[in-house]
Amino acid sequence: MPQAADHGDKLSGKVALITGAANGIGRAIAERFAHEGASVVIADLDNQTSQSVVTHIRENGGRADAITCDVSQAHDAERAVEHAVTSFGCLTTVVGSAAVFSPVVPIDELSEADWQRAIDVNLTGCFLISKYAIPHLKTSRGTITLIASQMAQVANAGQSAYCATKGALVQLAKGMALDYADAGIRVNTLSPGGIATDRLAKRFGDLERAQRIWGPKHPLGRLGEPDEIARGAVFLASDDSTFMTGADLLIDGGYTAW
Ligand SMILES: NC(=O)c1ccc[n+]([C@@H]2O[C@H](COP(=O)([O-])OP(=O)(O)OC[C@H]3O[C@@H](n4cnc5c(N)ncnc54)[C@H](O)[C@@H]3O)[C@@H](O)[C@H]2O)c1
Repeated sequence: MPQAADHGDKLSGKVALITGAANGIGRAIAERFAHEGASVVIADLDNQTSQSVVTHIRENGGRADAITCDVSQAHDAERAVEHAVTSFGCLTTVVGSAAVFSPVVPIDELSEADWQRAIDVNLTGCFLISKYAIPHLKTSRGTITLIASQMAQVANAGQSAYCATKGALVQLAKGMALDYADAGIRVNTLSPGGIATDRLAKRFGDLERAQRIWGPKHPLGRLGEPDEIARGAVFLASDDSTFMTGADLLIDGGYTAW
C-alpha cells in the first residue's frame, strides 16, 4: 500500500470498478487508485479478502466498496457495474484483472473444462464487464484497461490456453477502442511480465522459487512488484494518457526484448 503521506490526485473524481482486486495485481491497482483519489469497487470471487482490502483502503483515508462477483457470469458482471454506479454515483473507469490459474500442461493433457474456464474467466469476463460498463462510460467518457500479459506476445510451454486468452484480450481492446473512440471511451491493455503474486507462488511452489527461476527470464533480473503494474494502470486511467487508445502497455522488465 502506498504511504499516506504522498497521497496524489491523478484519479481525483474517478469511480473505478476493478475485477480480481482482492489479491495480487488487482489489489495493488485498487490501493494505488484509491491513493490517487479514486473511489474503487472491488469485484472478486473472494469476498472475505475483498472486504479486508476495503477496510485497509478506508483506514488509509480512501473510498472503497466490494461486491462478490464471478466475472464469467453475465448477471454478476451486470450487478457489479450497477453496484459501482449506485455506491458512488457514476462509473468512469474499468480494470479487468481477474484471471483463473490454469493447469500448466500441453493441450492434449488439458481438460475441456479447464480450457473453457480459462476462456470464460480471462476473456469472457472482460467482455461482460466491458459490455455492461460501456453505457455508463459513454456518459463519463471513461476508460477500460484490460490486464493482458507478456504472454499475449510470446508463448510459454504448458500455457497455451492462458496465452490464447491474453492474446485475445489485446485484440478485444483494439476492437473496442475503435468502436468507442467517437464516444470518448479509451480502451487499452496493460501487459505485465512476471509479477510476485500468489499466481506465481502457485506455479512455482513458492515466491522464493519463482524469483529464482522466473526472475532471470527478465533482463532486469527479477520479478516485478504488483505496485509497479498499478502505477501503469494509474497512467492509463488518468488524464496523463489522453492520446492513448487501442494500445498495449508492456511493463515486463524487458521479458519480450531478448
Ligand atoms: N502475476 C503475474 O506474473 C502476471 C503476469 C502477467 C499477467 N498477469 C495478469 O494479471 C492479472 C492479475 O494476476 P495476479 O497475479 O494478481 O493473480 P492472482 O491469482 O494473485 O489474483 C487473481 C484474482 O482474481 C480473482 N478471480 C479469479 N477468478 C475470478 C472470477 N471468476 N471472478 C472474479 N474474480 C476472480 C481471484 O480471487 C484473485 O483475487 C491476471 O489477469 C493475470 O493473468 C499476471
